[in-house]
Amino acid sequence: MNVLVLGSGGREHAIAWKIRQSENCGKLFCMPGNPGTAQIATNLEGSANDFETVKKAVLSNDIQMVVVGPEEPLVLGIRDFFAADAQLKDILFVGPCKKGAMLEGSKNFAKEFMDKYAIPTARYKSFSIDTLHEGEAFIDSLTAPYVLKADGLAAGKGVLILDSPDQAKAELRNMLSGKFGEASSTVVIEQFLSGIELSVFILTDGEEYLVLPEAKDYKRIGEEDTGLNTGGMGSVSPVSFADKAFMEKVEERIIRPTVSALKKEGMDYRGFIFIGLMNCGGDPYVIEYNVRMGDPETESVMTRIKSDFLQHLCATAKGRLKGEKIEIDDSCALTVVAVSGGYPQGYKKGYEITGSGNLYSCGSEGDIKIFHAGTTEKEGKIVTSGGRVLTVTVNGHDIGTCRQAAYGEMEKIHFTDIYFRRDIGLDLLK
Ligand code: AMP
Ligand code: GLY
Repeated sequence: MNVLVLGSGGREHAIAWKIRQSENCGKLFCMPGNPGTAQIATNLEGSANDFETVKKAVLSNDIQMVVVGPEEPLVLGIRDFFAADAQLKDILFVGPCKKGAMLEGSKNFAKEFMDKYAIPTARYKSFSIDTLHEGEAFIDSLTAPYVLKADGLAAGKGVLILDSPDQAKAELRNMLSGKFGEASSTVVIEQFLSGIELSVFILTDGEEYLVLPEAKDYKRIGEEDTGLNTGGMGSVSPVSFADKAFMEKVEERIIRPTVSALKKEGMDYRGFIFIGLMNCGGDPYVIEYNVRMGDPETESVMTRIKSDFLQHLCATAKGRLKGEKIEIDDSCALTVVAVSGGYPQGYKKGYEITGSGNLYSCGSEGDIKIFHAGTTEKEGKIVTSGGRVLTVTVNGHDIGTCRQAAYGEMEKIHFTDIYFRRDIGLDLLK
């Protein structure tokens, strides 16, 4: 089977790497991909958001399955575009329809969905510029800290957590006046949940589901979770506090009601759901839904799946997940992200990356993998092209072993202004 993975980050490199291992994988393509995916697949020019270009690529390369990495093309309706096109409608497709993608595309939609189906989440209300004063009164009814969320996609920057009611009211006004453009014309204000965060992933065909390995993401730029929020500076899987009893609660209170609600809402949902959870004293609450995998969680998650992932994707796309079983390795996976100095704010690009042979051979079966993200090839060299440059992902018996190997590998990698957190997994060792 010829497969196309849409996207260009570390997540897509890891998904492509896992698909490549299947004996049913014929030609593998990525659009646009990166120098890492080029080692295991053919990169195609184009953007996942340009549906006509995707269509041409699918037809001219005899592609039988499409797997969507990022959320944006899903929110824009790429699944619906395929379903409505006579030449594309029978292509196997992993990614939800536009309505399903609203679980990520609109925080207000997701909160209403959870409310309607009694899925545990923080208490909330939504406001527009016309209801600004009600919003201010709602802030007064809550205790600090205050959580304000732009309703729409805001490149991961649309959530503000503020300590004082005055700051919260000022930011509410800023957001409703266009701080995040159209995305914050509606703002969700919600109760702050205190606890430990965890990322849970499922593959669902809208009726049945497979639970993928869970992971913990390290979101802040600074060690010990300080400084600005980022897309994620590292990940670990499995997560020690997500024990059997906790995961049973997640399945019973969150996963099953979510999947059955997709069906009741009439959504054609065949794809991933990434459930961001807070473990509040042993009880799970949903912080957010995403309609894609997480990054850098995917890099850890994929390396722990033993069964044929392409087969799971096929079963998902065909609506035949019933009876499908996933096999997960007991070992530990740890991912450290190397970023360009300055990220998540301004940074420079175009620095040459050197130092490790693994930069060129992620396809190998060793315990150390480098997944590329913001890299590009220039005159035969691999150079930086984004804030999130690459990940080192390691599998091992325990977190301590993985940390040692991952940081040993990271020390070999050089580019100007490289930065990475040195404390990934440290909290889980205690
Ligand atoms: P989101 O984009 O919804 O994932 O939010 C970004 C981050 O803000 C989350 O990963 C949490 O760390 C934090 N966050 C979001 N909502 C809440 C909440 N209700 N209580 C505490 N922290 C939250
Ligand atoms: N690592 C969090 C995300 O992908 O949104």
